[in-house]
Amino acid sequence: MSKIILTGDRPTGKLHVGHYVGSLKGRVELQNSGAYDEVFIMIADAQALTDNADNPEKVRQNIIEVALDYLSCGLDPEKATILIQSQIPELCELSFYYMNLVTVSRLQRNPTVKSEIQMRNFEASIPVGFFTYPISQAADITAFKATTVPVGEDQLPMLEQTKEIVRKFNSVYGETLVEPEVLLPSNQACLRLPGTDGKAKMSKSLNNCIYLSDSPDDVKKKIMNMFTDPNHLKVSDPGRVEGNPVFIYLDAFCQDHHFEEFLPEYANLDELKAHYTRGGLGDVKVKRFLNEVIQEELEPIRKRRKEYEKDIPAIYEILKKGSEKAEEIAAKTLSEVKAAMKINYFDDAELIQEQAERFRK
Ligand code: TRP
Repeated sequence: MSKIILTGDRPTGKLHVGHYVGSLKGRVELQNSGAYDEVFIMIADAQALTDNADNPEKVRQNIIEVALDYLSCGLDPEKATILIQSQIPELCELSFYYMNLVTVSRLQRNPTVKSEIQMRNFEASIPVGFFTYPISQAADITAFKATTVPVGEDQLPMLEQTKEIVRKFNSVYGETLVEPEVLLPSNQACLRLPGTDGKAKMSKSLNNCIYLSDSPDDVKKKIMNMFTDPNHLKVSDPGRVEGNPVFIYLDAFCQDHHFEEFLPEYANLDELKAHYTRGGLGDVKVKRFLNEVIQEELEPIRKRRKEYEKDIPAIYEILKKGSEKAEEIAAKTLSEVKAAMKINYFDDAELIQEQAERFRK
């Protein structure tokens, strides 16, 4: 069986370093590993509209931002198909049929959707489209027969829902869809990078994100203002590294070679942490080091972005080509789905024959 990757993002803002360590970096590695037959990366604009119905302009503006972020991180249109969800109408059709296989109470139990409903103050009136987006996400994944879905932890409930739909579909209509596997980042710190203010999640509205497209100065400012251990007041005080965003970022970004380059007094992060924990190591020094590490990681991304920004029409062309290729594949899956469901009347010579005979009698 072919090995196929599918993943994606809602285009509701520029991508930040949390997206990068949690997903983008891994995608590029998977793309370059040669271990996959196809890699599909979806800009999930239709899903973004499920909670931004009144703000299509936001979604429209961010499609190009996300595409630039993808390309500058090293996603390569020669190796990966980048597509725009709304341009694949087959996904809507698949969703419509999958809806018959899912109950309202099952959707109500989805923990990610639950917390999103709270965050958006949707409790009183949840848009149906938003409520059912896990079903549409199952369509995204199954349309391309994805075997592997690299995502963050918060997407686990969507993958569970997808697997349930696949099993149900296959048991009712016969083996048609492929059950996907989730692929989580292996580094614990990368699973959920906190905001620079120490809040659990980076979010545009909290103004606690470091964006991939931030200038070196902005990145530095954000890092130097990062939240640390609130009880680490004097340099001589012992500090806590657990739950300290500066150290969580180091866990996510830093490797031993960074010490050689930028902070040779320490061999590795364990030594730095030990010193911080004992006391005698100031936050500013650790933040300066983190800044060096992150700047080094972001510099090539910024450079590639500058190049891609010079020819924006070419980016739209990449998205168009990717969407066209994706639609061909989704159309093939849809026709298999319709055949399995026996709603392919005009392709079914046997059916027509059968009916003809029935009426002849
Ligand atoms: N729900 C994902 C997010 O919020 C985006 C997404 C849409 C997605 N369709 C997908 C992710 C299919 C993986 C597979 O980031």
